[in-house]
Amino acid sequence: MEFQLKQSVPATEKTGVIIVAVSAGDFSPSALAVDAASGGQLAKALKHAGFEGKPGQTQSLFNLHGIAADQVLVVGTGPLKDLDIRGLQRAAADAVKALARGRKKAVSFLTELEIKGFSLNDRIASIVRASLEAAYRFDEFKSKKGDGHGLHHLTLAVAEKAGISAGKKAMAWGEALGSGINSARDLGNQPPNICHPSYIADQSRALGHAHQKHLSVKVLGEAEMKKLGMGAFLAVSQGSAQEGKLVIIEYTGGKKTEAPVVLVGKGVSFDTGGISIKPAAAMDEMKYDMCGAASVFGVMKALAESGLAINVVGVLACAENMPSGNATRPGDIVTSMSGQTIEILNTDAEGRLVLCDALTYISRYKPAVVIDVATLTGACIVALGKVVSGLFSPSDELADALLDAGQRSGDRAWRMPVWNDYQEMLESPFADIANIGSAPNGGAITAACFLARFTKDYTWAHLDIAGVAWISGAQKNATGRPVPLLMQYLKSRVS
Ligand code: BES
Ligand code: MN
Ligand code: ZN
Repeated sequence: MEFQLKQSVPATEKTGVIIVAVSAGDFSPSALAVDAASGGQLAKALKHAGFEGKPGQTQSLFNLHGIAADQVLVVGTGPLKDLDIRGLQRAAADAVKALARGRKKAVSFLTELEIKGFSLNDRIASIVRASLEAAYRFDEFKSKKGDGHGLHHLTLAVAEKAGISAGKKAMAWGEALGSGINSARDLGNQPPNICHPSYIADQSRALGHAHQKHLSVKVLGEAEMKKLGMGAFLAVSQGSAQEGKLVIIEYTGGKKTEAPVVLVGKGVSFDTGGISIKPAAAMDEMKYDMCGAASVFGVMKALAESGLAINVVGVLACAENMPSGNATRPGDIVTSMSGQTIEILNTDAEGRLVLCDALTYISRYKPAVVIDVATLTGACIVALGKVVSGLFSPSDELADALLDAGQRSGDRAWRMPVWNDYQEMLESPFADIANIGSAPNGGAITAACFLARFTKDYTWAHLDIAGVAWISGAQKNATGRPVPLLMQYLKSRVS
């Protein structure tokens, strides 16, 4: 989809479709203008159609008198005075979905909707990003491909000419963000017989080739990881016929001397549970267990496309968790790269094993901040549902910055504790640490506490995205979260 900015007013806009917002009680300025120019036809038609202006509702009206465009797409927003950034994203997405068939071009007046604390440019970026997300399709494996999204050109209307040049940067940011989000979704949605660790490594190399100026990509195989002493990582990948890979993508947009932000993603390309095998129901969804890595990939792509002035290292810890004659057994003890020994009591708690060695490896970058992203625990879904990511950090400053980035991007997180009280649940009679907590509760926290033992050298946060990385059921799809949160955070560090 292509985007453009233009100074325009709704009544005389000649492009085929104009998009305006209506809420339960009141009309947006553009809806009012359309109503006035059409002699009250808009209000009458909406009343006739029983259109309430709730979020999720859309209504098309054709050939209104006095209106140059032949279609007016009315999008419900709920009360305009309460509209927040997620409401605007929702409205932008609903508009794009309503235009999936037919029209190729539209002009959106959603830009005019004011939101406390957000500028016109913020709104432009949000509408662009949400439109790209809404137009996303994954039909690579359908014999009959959809003919792509109907809408090819979306023009965002601005009231004043001065808004155009400033808005272009915001538009480009929204495009880079949407592209990063959708590339994370593409990786996540790939079937697990295709998307194994080498595939993720190849995609990363290809990304590096496409952006040679800003990105450099390095891939470690199992032999190299063995040399580094990554016994925890290898305990997971050893059960699989697919070789484990540690993919390192370096983005240099900032000064050479500036310490990087390091992002580490869990990339378990399929999680059977290993010998502690999972039940069959919905096991297919464990192809999404690499969505942490996919989101880091998406961030690296969005960074390269936006050119943000920052240094970021993205690390994808990719392995497949399989039962086999070579697989790790419950009771096995391995030595991590940090030197700490781990008793593996449950082979299904594999994410923390691949992550702990990756988290030790990256201390060589002398990071300013480290954030790991992982579909780490079912317990996080029990605690928080599928609305927000679980955020864990011993640093109040980093936690607050990430919570704020979540609010501003509409990709929210909620903080959970990583207090030492929970550490004793990880004690093992035989090794330095067990890979699961001794209690049947607090599983998201004990998982974070496990990681905390490997992240003492730097400022660190952990995002458990088990509930938010994909949607289950009939609409099954990767979401690309938390690319928006992470990009917002990185942007906040620059300004
Ligand atoms: N990948 C899973 C976590 C998960 C489960 C994410 C369901 C999303 C949906 C992880 O590797 C896992 O299996 N965790 C175990 C940990 C337990 C064995 C301590 C879990 O959550 O059950
Ligand atoms: Mn598991
Ligand atoms: Zn897993």
